[in-house]
Amino acid sequence: MSTPRTDGDVVDLLDPELMRDPFRGFSQIRERAPLARAAFPGQTTPVWLVTRYDDVAAVLSDRRFVNDPAGVPGTGASNVREELVRARGIPAEYARYLLDTVLDADGADHIRLRRLVSRAFTARRVTELRPRVERISEDLLDRLPGHARDGVVDLIEHYAYPLPITVICELVGIAEEDRPLWREWGRGLVRMEPGAVTEPLRDMIAFVRDLIVRRRSEPADDLLTGLIRAHDEDGDRLTDTELITMVLTLVLAGHETTAHLIGNGVAALLAHPGQLGALRADPALLPRAVHELMRWCGPVQGTRFRYAAEDVEIGGMTVRRGEPIMAMLVSANYDPRRFDDPERLDITREPDGRRETHLGFGHGLHYCLGAALARQEAEVAFGMLLSRFPRIEPAVAPEDLERQLVPASWRLARLPVRLNT
Ligand code: HEM
Repeated sequence: MSTPRTDGDVVDLLDPELMRDPFRGFSQIRERAPLARAAFPGQTTPVWLVTRYDDVAAVLSDRRFVNDPAGVPGTGASNVREELVRARGIPAEYARYLLDTVLDADGADHIRLRRLVSRAFTARRVTELRPRVERISEDLLDRLPGHARDGVVDLIEHYAYPLPITVICELVGIAEEDRPLWREWGRGLVRMEPGAVTEPLRDMIAFVRDLIVRRRSEPADDLLTGLIRAHDEDGDRLTDTELITMVLTLVLAGHETTAHLIGNGVAALLAHPGQLGALRADPALLPRAVHELMRWCGPVQGTRFRYAAEDVEIGGMTVRRGEPIMAMLVSANYDPRRFDDPERLDITREPDGRRETHLGFGHGLHYCLGAALARQEAEVAFGMLLSRFPRIEPAVAPEDLERQLVPASWRLARLPVRLNT
């Protein structure tokens, strides 16, 4: 491909060519310099992109970078995310539920939120959920042949999307009959036209507010009840606004990302029959395959912005105090300084299933809270699909797959397959 379009030295993150092949595009950007400049539409402050593996890991674990721009000494820094949210026409009363999340908190505030949510969202809860994830997956697979038209079925619509939204709703405690609403709201939230987001966001907030009232009077064995009850040694609890924000964060962070890991991962396996065959022959490879698919085609390409609390030097370049920076996970995961032959998909690359070396779930204090759940869902989704439909094959060549072009993410619009039952 040609060099990604830049305006002077500024990378256009919405350049369709870069969005269609970010892996190659970012390889060129990464090899030019350790940092690049980028811009989003509707945003006045240019941002830095950090692209090399070691630098990405260093930025994400360096306390000199903060997530809340108000924490920058002096006059603070201009809040790029707030600018982006404002450009989408979201009224301030709703915007705060997107802007004051665990990902936007630093230091003691972040530790407090993370600790309270960790009391409810435990490893045990994730492990115990596995049989349910299997059951949900089995139900969806049962219904898959019924969705086929001329022998072709869209796995994004009928498998990759419904699985994680059902799992996260079940985990949180959202009733089955309300789940289609959440799916629609989730879709509404990625629409970019100004004002399009306001209505779904307002309805989601009202829904969670009501659910909290109901769970207070009728507790259940679910995450929301756990979050309502969670408190630390001093009796500190989440406020109602924090509870609503946390539920929205979990549902929003947890369903589309996982859906697109499943979609991208199945597409990658179908395009690599040798890898697919190896996985079929030895399902014990599943955890390692999930690590490699997260590296090779992870759905999240860049982190939230960080802001330099002081001048910081990276590879001989300086990020000045207050300047925003985004860590490009997609670029780090293809850095030949860290991975041999990074463009090759190799599901045996990671030495064992317990470790991961890719940065697709982030790194440091804000490392993905739902990584264990996402990995579990992906393992179940790949494993059950392949054993249930051993002769499944792609109905469209990999280069013709239609993508949803959303900045800093990597998603398929559709994944048409033949089940060949
Ligand atoms: C944070 C990716 C699934 C909840 C993150 C971050 C990444 C990420 C890259 C760090 C962002 C940053 O540092 O700016 C993913 C991917 C997923 C996934 C690729 C699926 C394949 C989930 C699920 C949940 C979840 C299933 C919840 C059920 C969160 C939360 C944070 C987070 C709450 C913020 C943690 C903090 O700020 O301390 N995720 N995620 N994610 N993720 Fe995930």
